[in-house]
Amino acid sequence: MIQIAVFASGSGSNFQALVDAVESGELNARIALLVCDRPNARVIERAREHGVPAFIFSAKDYDGKAHFEREIVAELEQREVDFIALAGYMRLIGDTLLSAFEGRIVNIHPSLLPAFPGVDAVGQALEAGVKVSGVTIHFVDAGMDTGQIIAQQAVPVFEDDNHEQLQNRIQKVEHELYPKTVEELIQRREIHLCQSNER
Ligand code: GRF
Repeated sequence: MIQIAVFASGSGSNFQALVDAVESGELNARIALLVCDRPNARVIERAREHGVPAFIFSAKDYDGKAHFEREIVAELEQREVDFIALAGYMRLIGDTLLSAFEGRIVNIHPSLLPAFPGVDAVGQALEAGVKVSGVTIHFVDAGMDTGQIIAQQAVPVFEDDNHEQLQNRIQKVEHELYPKTVEELIQRREIHLCQSNER
């Protein structure tokens, strides 16, 4: 069984969607760990409710990214994690994690990349006045939302949309697309077990 770590910083509705898909049998994997960099984030509560262990840290307690990423990698290896799904993790992944998990990290972003990378993609879409935005799932590289695109789905933007309305419409799509895409990657064997995990 593929072991997934989900990284999140906030509410965790996508974490929830992945957990729900595992529990319903739609996603053939195990959520082995939550990694969270905000000790008060709502996602921690969600993990607790579903018995998912959490590695929680504050970047300010470390001397730089390489330092906390080394600890994260140790935790991931100890739990035999095969694959990382970023779900609202508000940090760029550094070399330490990227080289340990090369080709095994994906992210979900609330726009049709390469349009509107970075923070507040929903606000950027409203500001630009586009009629269509959407959701992208992509492999993670060293850039900001720049890795190879795996799946995209368009979401209409209506004339009188406010931020919350558009965000809700996008998130509804995210919650279906993320588990479905991760399952497809597993089926296509684009995500595989780490050697130590071949059991
Ligand atoms: C999602 O919109 C995701 O696309 C972006 O951050 C948001 C996280 O939301 N990367 P949630 O914490 O999963 O509710």
